[in-house]
Amino acid sequence: METRNHTILSGFLLLGFSEHPQQRPLLLGLFLVMYLVTLLGNLLIMLAIGSHPHLHTPMYFFLANLSFVDTCFTCTIVPKGLVDIHTQDHSISYTGCLIQMYFFMVWALLDDFLLAVMAYDRYVAICLPLHYTTVMGPRRCLLLVAASWLCSNLLAFSLTLLMTQFSFCASHSIPHFFCDVPPLLKLACSDTHTFQVTMLTEAVLSGVVPLTCVLLSYAHIVHTVLRIPSAGGKHKVFSTCSSHLTVVTLFYGTLFLVYFQPSSSYSAGTGMVASVVYTVVTPMLNPFIYSLRNKDMKQALWRLLGVGQCPIE
Ligand SMILES: *[C@@H]1O[C@H](CO)[C@@H](O)[C@H](O)[C@H]1NC(C)=O
Repeated sequence: METRNHTILSGFLLLGFSEHPQQRPLLLGLFLVMYLVTLLGNLLIMLAIGSHPHLHTPMYFFLANLSFVDTCFTCTIVPKGLVDIHTQDHSISYTGCLIQMYFFMVWALLDDFLLAVMAYDRYVAICLPLHYTTVMGPRRCLLLVAASWLCSNLLAFSLTLLMTQFSFCASHSIPHFFCDVPPLLKLACSDTHTFQVTMLTEAVLSGVVPLTCVLLSYAHIVHTVLRIPSAGGKHKVFSTCSSHLTVVTLFYGTLFLVYFQPSSSYSAGTGMVASVVYTVVTPMLNPFIYSLRNKDMKQALWRLLGVGQCPIE
């Protein structure tokens, strides 16, 4: 190891939470609580879906996958942040930083692809109800999930590989609480042109394609719902989509805040707040959004907790 370049050995400093030391206990408490709630909420969702055969439908399988991805997402970011705040040791090794960046991208992209798959699932269920079981067969579902895994790993791997070519010569201080792409890009002193072009291409692929899928699915859904004559029917159909729509809005809204600004004008402040929202808050809220608005999910959760019938109907 000693023969390695000094730059590689020294690693980085994650200075996201180092500025206001008097807020340390508050931050620590807040993050710990949000972390535990996220783990518990998503774990319960996975258990509830796994243990109730009547929830073994594509929609709930995808939801369980989303919960799994959200759990991994939080585990990639928050424990390291908690240790940083607690010990005030903000260092992270070069390899650790790239590994964190890689997994962060994998989970974020998977969230993105799964949300598109879930929108497509709702489209088929609502607009082509007679073909639902044939279109969304078990093999098709598995294929959609597998394709999402493959794409996110390929995209994340190519960017991480390009990132390993960079040298970081000036500063090693990242004004962020985890190794994210824009702040690392700002520190690099090599030519980042190839990286930026690749990143833009991947952003278009992974942003525009799933988002178009979501928008088209919902355009068809709204069109179908408007043709339902009864208000009750409209409400029932729409209630199965509203949770998903809420999650989609939260996810893309914060993502656009962070990544759709040129890296020259990347501001650490807004970037960090938006990052906290989609790495910590969104994965925490997803289980609540889904289970509070969904009767089947609520009942399954209550039964899992041993309460029997759902007391709030
Ligand atoms: C993810 O989805 C696939 C395909 O529907 C399903 O077989 C699998 O059990 C799901 N994984 C989890 C963790 O729920």
